[in-house]
Amino acid sequence: MKFFIDTANLAQIKEAQDLGVLDGVTTNPSLMAKEGIKGQDNIMKHYVDICNITTGDVSAEVIATDFDGMVREGEMLADLHPRIVVKIPMIREGLKAIKYFSDKGIKTNCTLVFSAGQALLAAKAGASYVSPFVGRLDDISQDGMDLIDDIRTIYDNYGYETEILAASIRHPLHIVQCAKLAADVITAPLSAIIALLNHPLTDKGLAQFLADAKK
Ligand code: E4P
Repeated sequence: MKFFIDTANLAQIKEAQDLGVLDGVTTNPSLMAKEGIKGQDNIMKHYVDICNITTGDVSAEVIATDFDGMVREGEMLADLHPRIVVKIPMIREGLKAIKYFSDKGIKTNCTLVFSAGQALLAAKAGASYVSPFVGRLDDISQDGMDLIDDIRTIYDNYGYETEILAASIRHPLHIVQCAKLAADVITAPLSAIIALLNHPLTDKGLAQFLADAKK
């Protein structure tokens, strides 16, 4: 399973890259705003900065909601760097844009996916990645993992190559559950990735080994 980090914070991306387990980055307009990145030139430069830290795919989201606008923005984003993936919302115009980019060989990430039907459409349009939002489903008392499971079954039934990129991951257990359900990728905050490291018996065992080594 690939590990992407879900942030636009360069220091955190660098920290995750240095851990040696990072396969890519996802961003969205809210994450860019959180870092105070404003204005088209600064936004474009920031995507290039991210590409220069990670060796994997970097999802950059379009803001337009009409087909022509998405195509215009997506082409501009794709021209920035060969590893940019154009992130497009699961709406009617977005579906058309995904098909357009797929026909041109430009990678896409279909975002804001909350149902198996939406994921099926994204695959049929040729999305490279589909992003089901696990945590936001949990927030409204629906089990986000059921959606990952359903999409896995559907994609395997027909051999769709669209990668399941489990998004809106909130904690380490989400990551483990996604791995058990054979999601292709998770995108998570650095805190959830780091939390996978922790176990009290590891700490206790290490303390014991170090104490014994001194004897
Ligand atoms: C997906 O690509 C989104 O950037 C992200 O995972 C959304 O997560 P949130 O629900 O924690 O905002």
